[in-house]
Amino acid sequence: MEIGFKNHRQNTAVPELDRQRIPHHVAIIMDGNGRWAQKRHLPRIAGHKRGMEVVKEITKAASHLGIKVLTLYAFSTENWKRPDAEVNYLMDLPVKFFSTFVPELIENNVRVNVMGYTDQLPVSTQQAVNDAIAQTAHCTGMVLNFALNYGGRAEIVTGVQQIAREVQAGKVTPDAITEETLSAHLMTASLAPDTDPDVLIRTSGEERISNFLLWQLAYSELVFTDVYWPDYTSEELVQNIVAFQQRHRRFGGLDDGKDEK
Ligand code: IPE
Ligand code: IPE
Ligand code: MG
Repeated sequence: MEIGFKNHRQNTAVPELDRQRIPHHVAIIMDGNGRWAQKRHLPRIAGHKRGMEVVKEITKAASHLGIKVLTLYAFSTENWKRPDAEVNYLMDLPVKFFSTFVPELIENNVRVNVMGYTDQLPVSTQQAVNDAIAQTAHCTGMVLNFALNYGGRAEIVTGVQQIAREVQAGKVTPDAITEETLSAHLMTASLAPDTDPDVLIRTSGEERISNFLLWQLAYSELVFTDVYWPDYTSEELVQNIVAFQQRHRRFGGLDDGKDEK
């Protein structure tokens, strides 16, 4: 069955979702929680709370669509700059999230993965995350990959440090370092062969990367939507994937199969 939408008013067909061309790896910068709350004269954390419920809906929707990896930017290495009360609330969200949602993750065969500097998180957050990873380790469907205390530049620095140590130990020569070497030393390495997102979606109208997956986004399609994350829906996700499917990815060459010899 095609999931799609028609613009009845103008009676012109809007492109429908092509179920044969679902992106393997979808990454989302979930933005706009604070503005969603402020618009309603609520404290910012009310937006984060609602945002957490949306994560549950979108996880299930993405899994049903057949997406293989859903990477969600939950907390950046720069988000520590926020007021303590907000940071504390955000740090407690994974505890709340997994305490209620793990059974549904298992029902949907979704495996949890986390990337980021998790050793800097409160012990209770680490515990919640590690428990969820362990409890879903047997799941073979979609990978729900949370970026938690993640930063793209820091990730690259850490990867380069690891490679430098291998050079120092005589395990690899500088000339042998390739793009694959660096990829294999990034926090997405375990997602292979789907380390790089096919599409990056950012909500809330902001059109920037904010230190997310700098290396991996090299050839991702970027889709921006004005919707604040707490208002994001599975219909909007489908629409954003349709937008992705309308793009022509060329990777520097010409259109698929038309490369001149
Ligand atoms: C995204 O929403 C959630 C996190 C960054 C943790 P924001 O909290 O950034 O919301 P805005 O951008 O201030 O509206
Ligand atoms: C990016 O959003 C980080 C997350 C969604 C976790 P921010 O709200 O922190 O990004 P900026 O500050 O607008 O660039
Ligand atoms: Mg923001």
